[in-house]
Amino acid sequence: MSVTIQAVQSFQCISDARHRTLITTLVQKLHDYVQEVQLTETEWLQAIQFLTQTGQLCHEQRQEYILLSDVLGISMLVDEINHQKNEIQTPSTVFGPFFVENMPVRQYADSIVMEDEELSIPLLIKGKISNLRGEAIANAYVDVWQTADNGMYSGQDPEQQIDNLRGVFVSQGNGAYAIKSILPVSYQIPSDGTVGKLLSYAKRTFWRPAHIHFKIVAEGYQSLVTHIFLENDKYLENDAVFGVKDRLIVRHQLKQPDDQSKTLYGLDRDYYLIEYDFVLSES
Ligand SMILES: [Fe+2]
Repeated sequence: MSVTIQAVQSFQCISDARHRTLITTLVQKLHDYVQEVQLTETEWLQAIQFLTQTGQLCHEQRQEYILLSDVLGISMLVDEINHQKNEIQTPSTVFGPFFVENMPVRQYADSIVMEDEELSIPLLIKGKISNLRGEAIANAYVDVWQTADNGMYSGQDPEQQIDNLRGVFVSQGNGAYAIKSILPVSYQIPSDGTVGKLLSYAKRTFWRPAHIHFKIVAEGYQSLVTHIFLENDKYLENDAVFGVKDRLIVRHQLKQPDDQSKTLYGLDRDYYLIEYDFVLSES
C-alpha cells in the first residue's frame, strides 16, 4: 500500500464528516503536489523553514499567515465561494491582517482620528444600512479601520495609539451611520517578512489601493466584511491581494461647510464626503 493511501486512510476515524473530508482531501492533494513536482529534500526543508518563519512572525497585532493567504489569492477565493449570492447585497472582500478587536464604541458622526492630523482635510463617510428589501437595519455594529497618512495601521505602527483610525459605530433607528475620519492612502503590505520575500522573488507589487475596512454585524443578518476603495487610485487594477470589486469603488467629493454640516456633523471647514449604503442579507 502506498504511503499516500496509508496517510489518507489514517484520518478516516475522524467522526465529524466535514472535518474528515477537509483533512483527508488536504493530505491527498499535498501528496499529489509532491508527486507532480517531484519535490527534492532541499525544497521540502525550504518549505518547512518558510512556514516556520511565517508562524514566528505572528503575534497579537501581526498576522503573517492571513497576509500569505491574501497574496496567494486564497482569501478572495474563500470569499467568492461563501458570499455574494445576489446583485443587491454589498460585496464582501478580504478581511486582511490588520483588524483589532474590542475597539471603542463611538457616537454617530464621531471622529476616529485620535492623533494630531490637523493638516489633513476631514472626511465624512455616511450612509444607510439596509436589508435586501431596502428596510433600515438599526443597531448594526459597524467596525471601521484604516491607514493613517503614513500608510500604516495602528498596531503595525508603534507611533500610533491603538484606537487611532479605528472604532465601532452603531446604526441609528433609520439605519443611518456617520463617521468622521481622513482619507486613507494607498499603502504597501509589510515587506519585512516571509510574504515580502515571496513577493520580491516573484517581482510582484506590494501596493494596495487606498481603502477603508468595514466589518458590519447585525442580529439576523450575515456579517459583512468589506472595504470601500477610493476611485482613481492608481493601484485599483493591480491590488497585491486581489481584493478590488467594482461596486466597492466610491467617489470622494470636496465640500464646503454649511449649516447642516456644522450642526449634524461638526464640520466647519472644507471636507471630503463619501456616501455609501451597505446592504446586508438575512442569515
Ligand atoms: Fe487594508
